[in-house]
Amino acid sequence: MCGIVGYVGPQDARDVILEGLRRLEYRGYDSAGIAVVADGLLSSVKKAGKLANLEKVLAEHPLPAATVGIGHTRWATHGGPTDRNAHPHVSADGSVAVIHNGIIENFAALRAECEAQGVEFRSETDTEVAAHLLAAAYADTPEGPGRLAEAMRVISRRLEGAFTLVATAATEPDTLVAARRSSPLVVGVGDGEYFLGSDVAAFIAHTREARELGQDQVVEIDRHRGLTVTDFFGAAVEPKAYTVDWDAAAAEKGGYDWFMLKEIAEQPQAIADTLLGRLGSQGELVLDEVRLSDQELRDIDKIFVVACGTAFHAGMIAKYAIEHWTRIPVEVELASEFRYRDPVLDRSTLVVVISQSGETMDTLMALRHAKDQKARVLAICNANGSTIPRESDAVLYTHAGPEVAVASTKGFLTQLVACYLVGLFLAQVRGVKYEDEVSAVVDDLRRLPEAVAEVLAAMEPVRELARSLADADTILFLGRHVGYPVALEGALKLKELAYIHAEGFAAGELKHGPIAVVDQGTPVIVIVPSPRSRESVHGKVVSNIQEVRARGARTIVIAEEGDEDVVPYADHLIRVPRTPTLLAPVVTTVPLQVLACEIAATRGLDVDQPRNLAKSVTVE
Ligand code: G6P
Repeated sequence: MCGIVGYVGPQDARDVILEGLRRLEYRGYDSAGIAVVADGLLSSVKKAGKLANLEKVLAEHPLPAATVGIGHTRWATHGGPTDRNAHPHVSADGSVAVIHNGIIENFAALRAECEAQGVEFRSETDTEVAAHLLAAAYADTPEGPGRLAEAMRVISRRLEGAFTLVATAATEPDTLVAARRSSPLVVGVGDGEYFLGSDVAAFIAHTREARELGQDQVVEIDRHRGLTVTDFFGAAVEPKAYTVDWDAAAAEKGGYDWFMLKEIAEQPQAIADTLLGRLGSQGELVLDEVRLSDQELRDIDKIFVVACGTAFHAGMIAKYAIEHWTRIPVEVELASEFRYRDPVLDRSTLVVVISQSGETMDTLMALRHAKDQKARVLAICNANGSTIPRESDAVLYTHAGPEVAVASTKGFLTQLVACYLVGLFLAQVRGVKYEDEVSAVVDDLRRLPEAVAEVLAAMEPVRELARSLADADTILFLGRHVGYPVALEGALKLKELAYIHAEGFAAGELKHGPIAVVDQGTPVIVIVPSPRSRESVHGKVVSNIQEVRARGARTIVIAEEGDEDVVPYADHLIRVPRTPTLLAPVVTTVPLQVLACEIAATRGLDVDQPRNLAKSVTVE
């Protein structure tokens, strides 16, 4: 996490940097800071808390106008969220300023080395060591073009861990330098100006022309000499150019109070965009970005789905669909656990990694482990050009557009749709489903945007219900089959947004323990499977509603239109359109998103930036 912005060009760098930080604040908001170079001096201001705190200080004590600057919004790892620990970090001699995303794992040894040379540290961060080392390397490098970049290469070779570092030097008003290992960084190329950002949102208001940076690369941007990319040893590298397909308006709130509300409302369109161009006219699937040959796909004998947080819940649902359609065994794993338990992987294993941001470090490390073991990796990802899809053998982009609210909504629904596409595609290629069976599911997929729009149009009672739940101490979620991961996702949303204790359970497990916590008035939200679902799962869940109600629970029931069995036991009934069992999570999740969002808003909380969280978690 942490948001990074850099600028060199004719505009006032102060404005460009602050605007970029506003767009990246979702990556971290413990503190923020900015540094500019003017008149041979580095000036910086940094402040704990949200960006607004920094803006207030800058309004009272403005920095000088400048043509080069760097800015940072932090999610603390080493050292608390204080003014001193905020970035940029300026070297003891005032020659360079540095911002950083990631963790420098050998910082303790390097700090001891600097201290032995008499450097006094002013923060508890791992980053500050990079500022002092860079200043020392800069002093040792002969003056002339490329000096700062050379110093950056020297220190990058010594740093261990994950880092994006961006630096400016007091005596170089036209130069920005950055290094990248594992943490994200993209370059924006405008007309006579250049931008650096953790992601393209940082500069999308200025340019859509971007350059991808690879692992272990250093980029030097000079206003006059342009862009130079090398590896850590100075060998020239040609960065890959691409055009960003989001526009600036997509990254704005568009009249909604919260990004999350906007992103919830965008879901029908986002799903349609995920499907766009992938459903052939004959009902077949066309997935060009899956760069694995049909033979490779036919050879797969095991699938792992690996992800974190909300994306993990998408993976849990994917298991039901992919196993059912392809008959290939599927295991779902939390990325943070995956590589540490030595999973059995080989060439015929497909690892599907799911990540909205494409930068989650746990997922990236799991991906690298899978590739080391020769498994094939397919990424389902939203952020174009991010690290995870770049390092995967194949990618299916969800095309949901920028997701800014920390809690994932359209990211999740589109991940689900992408998982369905992968499952059906495998079934199609391997010939385990007849063409008409595939095309019947394709028809069902085509109807999803409308079904979600229908749910959204009927959300007013859910908002009212949310207001009545705002004081609850605990809320339980029950579901079965694909409704179980939906229950987990509903509970996660509520925890992260409203800070209310919430748990999701497999409804069948209720009797094995969880029912003990049900008390008079405990709200229990039940996701009811379709009455058409297999082997009377529906009937069993209806019984579960009665069981919790008999123990005093206040029941909130999500059930499809026409399901009359639930009516006598529902204190509140939320209707969703009839949807095939495996696809139902796409509609049943929506009321839970709205509920969590409204409860948080009623409690006066920051819906888009909940405490302690970050959108993109780029540390392990
Ligand atoms: C963070 C976010 C979650 C998200 C998870 C995975 O924890 O707060 O909302 O689900 O990361 O993110 P990804 O970008 O990999 O989908």
